Amino acid sequence: MDNSGCAVVTGAGSGIGRACALRLAETGLSIAALDADAAAAERTAKEVGGAAFAVDVTDENAVASAVAVADSLFGSPKVLVNAAGIIIRKKLLDSTVDEWRRVVDVNLTGYFVLLKQVIPRMAAGGGGSIVQIASIAGHTGYGFSSYTAAKGGVLALTRQLAAELAVDGIRINSVSPGVVHSGLNRDTLSHENIRSATVANTPLGRIGEPDDIARVVAFLAGPGADYVTGTDLVADGGMISTIHWGAAGGELHSFHAQER
Ligand SMILES: NC(=O)c1ccc[n+]([C@@H]2O[C@H](COP(=O)([O-])OP(=O)(O)OC[C@H]3O[C@@H](n4cnc5c(N)ncnc54)[C@H](O)[C@@H]3O)[C@@H](O)[C@H]2O)c1
Repeated sequence: MDNSGCAVVTGAGSGIGRACALRLAETGLSIAALDADAAAAERTAKEVGGAAFAVDVTDENAVASAVAVADSLFGSPKVLVNAAGIIIRKKLLDSTVDEWRRVVDVNLTGYFVLLKQVIPRMAAGGGGSIVQIASIAGHTGYGFSSYTAAKGGVLALTRQLAAELAVDGIRINSVSPGVVHSGLNRDTLSHENIRSATVANTPLGRIGEPDDIARVVAFLAGPGADYVTGTDLVADGGMISTIHWGAAGGELHSFHAQER
C-alpha cells in the first residue's frame, strides 16, 4: 500500500485512538483526528501534524463534513480506524433504555456512520484498509450488557463487510483488546482489587498499553496484512485464551504429579 494519503481515526483524542494516530503517522499517513472532545483532538493533531475535528461520531452531518475536509486537505482516505467508544458499567436490569441506546449508538452505529462516509472516498481513491476496535467483550461475557452487545455487533459487522468491500480493494478487520490503560477504565483500574484481578487473569501478567493495540492496528492497516480481511485479532495478553483456575490451578497439576 502506498502510504501517502489520509488516515481517519476516531476517538483520536485519547487512549487507543490516540496511539493509533501516532503509529499511523509514523508510516507516512496524514492524520484526521476525530473526537467529541475538541481539546483532546487538537492535542493529538498537533502531535502528529494532522488536522483535528471536534465531531460526535453519531452525528452523520458532522462526520460527513469532517471526512470531506480531510479528503480535500490530505487526499482520499487510505485508512480508517474506528475507535471512539464509551462504556456504561451496569447490569441489564439497572440500565435505562437511553443508556443502552447511547452505548450502542456510539460503539456500533458510530462505526456505521464513519464506514458510510469513508468507504465511497476510499473506493474512489483505489482502496485501503479499515480497522475497527472491538473488544474481548464481544467474544465473551464481560459484565456490561450494552457494551458487550455493541462489541459483538462490531465483530459481526466486520466479518459481513469483508466480501462487500473486497471488490473495491478495501480490507476490513477488527482488533479485540483486553484490558488496556486508557480514559475508559482509569476509574476502575485505580481500585486495587480490580487492578490485581485483571493482572491475575492475564497470562502475560500485565495490563495492556494503548500502543500494544496501536502496533496491531498498524500491522492490519499496512502492507504486511495485504491478504487479511474479515477477521479479528485478539490482543489481550492471553486473557480469553484460557480458563483461569487461580490457586486451584496448582492443585489440578498436583494430581498428575502424584501419579508419577
Ligand atoms: N481500554 C480498554 O481496556 C479497552 C478494551 C477493549 C476495547 N476498547 C475500545 O477501545 C476504543 C478506544 O477506547 P479507549 O480505551 O482508548 O478509551 P478512551 O476513553 O481513552 O478513548 C475514547 C475516546 O473516544 C472519544 N469519544 C467518546 N464518545 C465519542 C463520540 N460519541 N464521538 C466521538 N468521540 C467519542 C472520547 O472523547 C475519547 O477521546 C473503544 O472503542 C473501546 O471500547 C478499550
